[in-house]
Amino acid sequence: MASYRFASVYVDPKGSPIRALYKHLGEPGMISFAGGYPDPQLFDEEGLRQASERAFANSKGCLEYGATEGTPGLKNEIVRLMHTRGVSTRPENIIVTTGSQQAFDLVLRVMVEKGDRVLVEQPTYSTNIQAVHAYQANVQSVPVTADGLDVEALERMLASARVSGQLPKLLYTIPNFSNPSGATMPRERRIRLLQLAAQYQLLLVEDDPYGGLRFKGEAVPSLMALAGEVPGAQDWVVHLSSLSKIVAPGLRVGWAVAPVEILRRCSVAKQSADVGSSPWTQSIAAEYLSGGRMTTHLEHICAAYGAKCRALADGLRRELGEALAFHEPSGGMFIWARLTGTVTASELLERAIARGVMFVPGEGFQVDSSDPFTLRLSFATPTLDEVALGTRRLGEALADALARKSPQALPA
Ligand SMILES: Cc1ncc(COP(=O)(O)O)c(C=O)c1O
Repeated sequence: MASYRFASVYVDPKGSPIRALYKHLGEPGMISFAGGYPDPQLFDEEGLRQASERAFANSKGCLEYGATEGTPGLKNEIVRLMHTRGVSTRPENIIVTTGSQQAFDLVLRVMVEKGDRVLVEQPTYSTNIQAVHAYQANVQSVPVTADGLDVEALERMLASARVSGQLPKLLYTIPNFSNPSGATMPRERRIRLLQLAAQYQLLLVEDDPYGGLRFKGEAVPSLMALAGEVPGAQDWVVHLSSLSKIVAPGLRVGWAVAPVEILRRCSVAKQSADVGSSPWTQSIAAEYLSGGRMTTHLEHICAAYGAKCRALADGLRRELGEALAFHEPSGGMFIWARLTGTVTASELLERAIARGVMFVPGEGFQVDSSDPFTLRLSFATPTLDEVALGTRRLGEALADALARKSPQALPA
């Protein structure tokens, strides 16, 4: 074997816990509650086909390199979209990225040096734990309750960090229907978080790919929308969002809304990352957003995801009963759950795969202390029939796992 001298963080890198399950996806009859993939049946194929044709007809420029910060047409559409979400912004404050994944990477690249303290929620989106580790940050977690980030715990952490002179540089949060917890932070918590950000000069990176997928209750304004209400907070919020979950991830269109000082640096970082995101898919996205189908499309997919979420929650209650504790989310794609007995999520997964159903154990979403009884289930991709069958298989898998733990309990 060649003795490559890899960069230290890539000597033995941990991949995504979800991608590790891919090999089972192709197994015949497998039902997956694992990935956070939008349902392909819910893509607006006709609308996207028309948008592609218009993009190609209207703008031969989309075959050329484009501006690193994004095409003007798409930036204008994002300004309009953000306006419908209560955020008043300008094209100068927006950078279009190759998915919101890249937006987070760029923010880390321009903000974080080796050893800097970075805070994330516990649990949080596993790929972004990887991203923070790639910059050799000193990552610490803030607990999450059923109402999202525990702001009081954060306040205690910040107060003691100030005493030790080690204030964190930024906090990564997913306030709407978080991946993986499904939790949404209420308005008062968001206001308190903004006050802390202003007080401690803590950069809040708000990741909001799921906010548009609300199927129950009233929308809560984003941190960026609320920042104007808290003196000094506006300078301390970067907002990330994406078309991946509401239109199609194959477009790879995401964006950041940020103060210009941060954005200018992200743009320079993006030059060496990929020169610019594809002007072709940006033009399709701009045509789609301006084409007038978005409102109806969102209503349609929110209703469909709402029905799937209810089906999964009902199925879990029916098939696993008290053995699984969880909160039913009001949007997004995920149910975060905890096994209440002696079987761990990995033990259940092993039996579940044998029965033809998959989910993701919660350990990959946790940074420090890790709870082996937690798991994430996505209701996005399976059909309603598959949800019903998948939950039945989960119930059977739990019985298998219990029998394996205590064979004496098996019937003679
Ligand atoms: C919380 C969160 N942030 C970011 C992303 C990445 O999305 P994108 O496709 O926009 O890069 C995902 C995708 O699953 C996600 O769950």
